[in-house]
Amino acid sequence: MSYSVLIADDDNSLRQVLSAALNKAGYNTVKARNGKETIECIQENEIDVMLLDIFLGDVDGLELIESIQEINPTVAIIIITGHGTTQTAIEAAKRRAYGYLTKPIDREELLDLVERAASAVNITKEETEGTQENEQIDAQGRMVGKSPAMQVVYQVIGRAAVSDETVLIMGESGTGKELVAELIHKNSPRSENPFIVVDCSAISPSLIESTLFGHVKGAYTDAHADRKGKFEQADSGTIFLDEVGELSIDVQMKLLRVLQEREIEPVGSNDTRSVNVRIIAATNQKLETSITDKTFRDDLYYRLNVVPISLPPLRERREDIPDLIDLFTSRFAQEYQIPKIGISTETIDKLTEHEWHGNVRELENAIKRALVMCSGQMLLPEHFAEILDKPVLDSNVNNQDLDLQMQSLLQMQVTQLLESEMDLGHLYAKITAVFEKPLFEIVLEYTDGNQSKASEILGINRNTLSARLKVYDIK
Ligand SMILES: Nc1ncnc2c1ncn2[C@@H]1O[C@H](COP(=O)(O)OP(=O)(O)OP(=O)(O)O)[C@@H](O)[C@H]1O
Ligand SMILES: [Mg+2]
Repeated sequence: MSYSVLIADDDNSLRQVLSAALNKAGYNTVKARNGKETIECIQENEIDVMLLDIFLGDVDGLELIESIQEINPTVAIIIITGHGTTQTAIEAAKRRAYGYLTKPIDREELLDLVERAASAVNITKEETEGTQENEQIDAQGRMVGKSPAMQVVYQVIGRAAVSDETVLIMGESGTGKELVAELIHKNSPRSENPFIVVDCSAISPSLIESTLFGHVKGAYTDAHADRKGKFEQADSGTIFLDEVGELSIDVQMKLLRVLQEREIEPVGSNDTRSVNVRIIAATNQKLETSITDKTFRDDLYYRLNVVPISLPPLRERREDIPDLIDLFTSRFAQEYQIPKIGISTETIDKLTEHEWHGNVRELENAIKRALVMCSGQMLLPEHFAEILDKPVLDSNVNNQDLDLQMQSLLQMQVTQLLESEMDLGHLYAKITAVFEKPLFEIVLEYTDGNQSKASEILGINRNTLSARLKVYDIK
């Protein structure tokens, strides 16, 4: 499919150059010289992406945006400006422009931005038109990634969805196991019925049996009434047993029985009740190893592993990273009700090279954090400094927890500042100072004031550190 790009610029030669570059890359182009022609072009053509000069002859390009969006609500607008002042960027972003190019326009950057804008438009159109042809496309609608490894996953999801077999999803933490389970349920004939999630690692061993199978009144001192277990709650629907590898051998045996007989026995009861439940299990452990170690029953494993789905780690399908970045920046923009922020090519490259041991979840969190840190219109490598320049420190530190804590702290701080209506001109510096100053003080104390040691621990340049120390007046 070929996309149409409208070039609205009053500069003749720039219009020609841009149009030639875009044609060569396979886009159809339409040109407009002023506000009037721009509106006409938008009315008469089906435009996917437009490049809009901020000074469009006699009119202000920004002022046009509203009328353009009224006529064509899905068009992705890329603003072109001679001088990228923050204020213009903010104004553009407020009006939900997709991105921003500064003159002189770099060809690579142009093509990259247009391509991303075009695919974003494509997604929006698909979503709004709801033209999902079959389960597989639906699965892809929410899971992104076009790598061969993920294509296989989508196919298995599609096939698993229409069968009623037990599925075992395997993959490292954060690879999307729960998302896959949800998609299987949503695309299955049981989709209108409950989808019940049980995190087997989060329930205390003494409660797991009653949680899964329920109990009758009097089964425990605290059991004042009958209680339905998750299996009964999931009746006619799907139960998702997350981290199934964490179940005790004892509970594993009871689960095996449910799988064989499709019957449960509430704690304290002698009756069995039949349940009609589809089972999807997930684990981030190598269950084969657990079988060897005798911590997982092999008969249960074979019962669960009827349809296996292996989710590859993100670092083995790096080509999916740009699509995921795009998904998350759009999603958070929507969630936080802010305009979508662009991301520089260099940043995408760096993020693509990163190892992502926490997989998609880590990437998702990194983007959330970066959006909080980013004060401009573009995500840059510096907004990901925490992960990109992370020094190899004590690996026992639980980075994910630390990240989450930092993130919520930041969110609080920034929201407070934004709501305080004080002078926000130096938001980036203010927020950085909140974290940077105490961080330096603590590390310097730890190194007895030794700056080179401190800079090593911090993973920043020594000169940068000493310059920052001066700013904060730390000795
Ligand atoms: N291919 C994908 N496309 C879009 N979002 C994804 C994809 N894979 C994972 N995610 C998102 O990443 C996050 C982590 O996914 P999920 O919770 O399903 O992983 P998990 O394997 O269950 O992780 P954990 O082992 O930590 O529980 C979720 O927010 C999920 O929506
Ligand atoms: Mg999970």
